[in-house]
Amino acid sequence: MTEMLLFNPFMPGFTDDPYPHYRELRDADPVQEHPMGFWFVSRHDEVADLLRANLSVEQRHLAPHPVRDSIRGEGEASLRGGGLSMLDRDPPDHTRLRRLVSKVFTPRAIEGLRPRITELVDEAVDRLSGGGDVVAELAFPLPFAVINEMLGMPLADAERVRDLTGTLVRSLEPIADPDLVSRIRDADAELSALCREAIAAKRAEPADDLLTALVRAEEDGDVLDDDELVAQVVLLYVAGHETTVNLISNGVVALLRHPDQLRALRETPELIGNAVEEFLRYDSPVQSGRRVTTRPVTVADREIPAGSFVLLGQASANRDERFWGPDADTLRLDRRDARLHVSFGAGPHHCLGAALARMEAQVAIGRLVARCPNLAQAGEIEWNGRINLRGAARVPVSV
Ligand code: HEM
Repeated sequence: MTEMLLFNPFMPGFTDDPYPHYRELRDADPVQEHPMGFWFVSRHDEVADLLRANLSVEQRHLAPHPVRDSIRGEGEASLRGGGLSMLDRDPPDHTRLRRLVSKVFTPRAIEGLRPRITELVDEAVDRLSGGGDVVAELAFPLPFAVINEMLGMPLADAERVRDLTGTLVRSLEPIADPDLVSRIRDADAELSALCREAIAAKRAEPADDLLTALVRAEEDGDVLDDDELVAQVVLLYVAGHETTVNLISNGVVALLRHPDQLRALRETPELIGNAVEEFLRYDSPVQSGRRVTTRPVTVADREIPAGSFVLLGQASANRDERFWGPDADTLRLDRRDARLHVSFGAGPHHCLGAALARMEAQVAIGRLVARCPNLAQAGEIEWNGRINLRGAARVPVSV
């Protein structure tokens, strides 16, 4: 009997380079029912269809599963904003929460940040002038500084908030360690308390920032209550930080490993917009999405029953040769359809911060390449060991 090929993100080497395993899965079993109690979908068309299929994101719809239930004590949503963030809600709650936040998180508000982002990037590139680690100096601090300043949180809390966010983001990974669960729960309580204090301060003394705008956000008499408000702010921190760190770090790694593409970007700086789409495709900062079926769903001739936990392999979809053609594994900054990647999801939960993430990455990588004509790798690249928010943790360069 041939051995069954199962999705196994815990196998050695997976978090350094998951792509060969994804390819095997796409070829052998693209809609896989896993004995651990989930489904793994790995081809582009099925992932894109299911993202748009209005499946649920609420884990209360999960049917009991003996193996999964014995290893998963607590739904990850309840660890983060008590399950009240838009990421963890279905309509009608999702619709109203997203509408209220979108009202203030506008393309105009985001575009207005460009000069400040450029300033922060230039300071980081200055720090790299004698060489150093791109992650520590640029990719890691930038996205947090941007969202923290945009919200208008007290600067005195910044370092603590950044640490708490770093713990909370682990709720997006498979968790086997009970200690981590309790650390995540504590971090959520502490960050929520800091947000509550900051919100009270904005009520007393409004300012020109996102937190004040969220406090005031109202549509047709509808407002965010305090718990909802806190959960959306926590979500902006969690969803907006390490994801963007990974985009910048993984983008720089991709360039260092493809000197011809680095040269092309240096010679044609206008490529940067499409280059960032290709970085998103080539090495997705979020590897998989999660959904729950509330009705049977048929995909690629397989029926996924109601109550199933479904992992949508976005990073795998982004390398599916059936969709992208035979050069799916090649980095091509001038790829014409790069924007068809599914790294920001699709459908009702499509990333609300996509425009901000794109701008940060375009400015960060664009300035780094423009200002460092001799940019080159100067030591071992280290990966962060994460299954879902997978990215480079250390990228030493000489400039
Ligand atoms: C949702 C990816 C940056 C805010 C999502 C989703 C993905 C994603 C895949 C959908 C999750 C799902 O379908 O369940 C990314 C990536 C980023 C990034 C790859 C960076 C490269 C940001 C930033 C912010 C942000 C900078 C804001 C500061 C959000 C929010 C949602 C979301 C609020 C929830 C939308 C909803 O549920 O309706 N993101 N994100 N993201 N993202 Fe992002």
